[in-house]
Amino acid sequence: MKLLVTGGAGFIGSNFVNLSVSDYPEYEITVLDALTYAGDRSSLAKVESKIRFIKGDICDRDLVDRLVSENDIVVHFAAESHNDNSLLDPSPFINTNIVGTFNILEATRKHSKRLHHISTDEVYGDLELDDPGKFNANTPYNPSSPYSASKASSDMLVRAWVRSFGLHATISNCSNNYGPYQHIEKFIPRQITNIISGYKPKLYGKGENVRDWIHVEDHNRAVHMIIKAGKPGETYLIGADGEKNNLEVIQTILVLMGKNADDFEHVTDRPGHDLRYAIDSSKLRTELGWKPIYTDFKSGLKQTIKWYQDNQDWWSAHKTATEAKYKKQGQ
Ligand code: NAD
Ligand code: DAU
Repeated sequence: MKLLVTGGAGFIGSNFVNLSVSDYPEYEITVLDALTYAGDRSSLAKVESKIRFIKGDICDRDLVDRLVSENDIVVHFAAESHNDNSLLDPSPFINTNIVGTFNILEATRKHSKRLHHISTDEVYGDLELDDPGKFNANTPYNPSSPYSASKASSDMLVRAWVRSFGLHATISNCSNNYGPYQHIEKFIPRQITNIISGYKPKLYGKGENVRDWIHVEDHNRAVHMIIKAGKPGETYLIGADGEKNNLEVIQTILVLMGKNADDFEHVTDRPGHDLRYAIDSSKLRTELGWKPIYTDFKSGLKQTIKWYQDNQDWWSAHKTATEAKYKKQGQ
């Protein structure tokens, strides 16, 4: 099978490509990635000789059309992915997440190819802290930020192409990922690299917001199962019952790194900050037999901390600029 992986130099995409090369050596993989600030070709260094890498933009219709025509399935990770950035400048989110996805839909339709669209639980909005319910495939869409609204738009386009044109597409909506190769603008790697760099970790507001953490490898194993056995037109929610509030996460990182649990600072909260995400992944578990391997968050975090300690060359050049950007926003 020939896979076109968009966004394969980003956090989840590069983990997907690395996992695919080791677990599915029979797959032929082409990565299409624009190498924005969030993409890093060195994340694919271990598999560079086993894949084809194309530096290019999913907004380039002709390029997308050609690459789609040469492959059997598109696994579509490419996106602008950071909420805080979408509040500063929504425009690349509209282009990449909506127009880019439209290009992929048109090419997959034209060449009758299969598509798996990677999306987020943020399309469903947020939950109250004491809500007994969780997001499932029937939860109405209610996105809050420009990022989540752009991802919701892309999901809606995929659904429309399935219904109107019979496109063979599946969608997955996953919760917050953590693990190696995640950009240091994101919560967990930002705090780990802050501590390594001698800065205090930064907590937005009171830290009561809850995220449903999943290890990136568990996410990507689910994606492989959907590619192999998912039903056309279906949406699968991916989550590992990993709800934690941000205060708890920051304190766990501090303690695992030998610091005092209270050695962090409160910074300006994110405008419109979603309170809580929680995933009901029972459909994926019952229909496709998926279950997470990383069920102990602390040991997954420990492994992630070690990765950032051992791979400072991968992130240290970006630290000053990333923190300067946050500082301007009081974060
Ligand atoms: P990321 O920001 O780390 O990586 C995105 C990648 O896409 C980068 O390599 C970047 O260069 C590439 N890219 C951006 N614009 C492009 C364009 N126009 N053309 C081609 N390539 C482009 O993102 P991530 O965290 O790995 O997220 C990947 C996907 O998973 C996204 O669709 C995101 O919405 C979704 N998702 C992320 C999470 C999470 O916790 N990070 C959870 C659920 C879903
Ligand atoms: O739920 C899935 C989503 O998870 C994905 O769709 C997004 O691509 C991904 O970025 C992530 O979105 P979040 O906004 O939840 O992740 P982020 O890492 O930015 O923040 C996680 C939580 O931590 C959130 O409540 C904000 C808070 N936070 C974040 C940063 C960067 C802090 O308290 N301090 C920080 O320094």
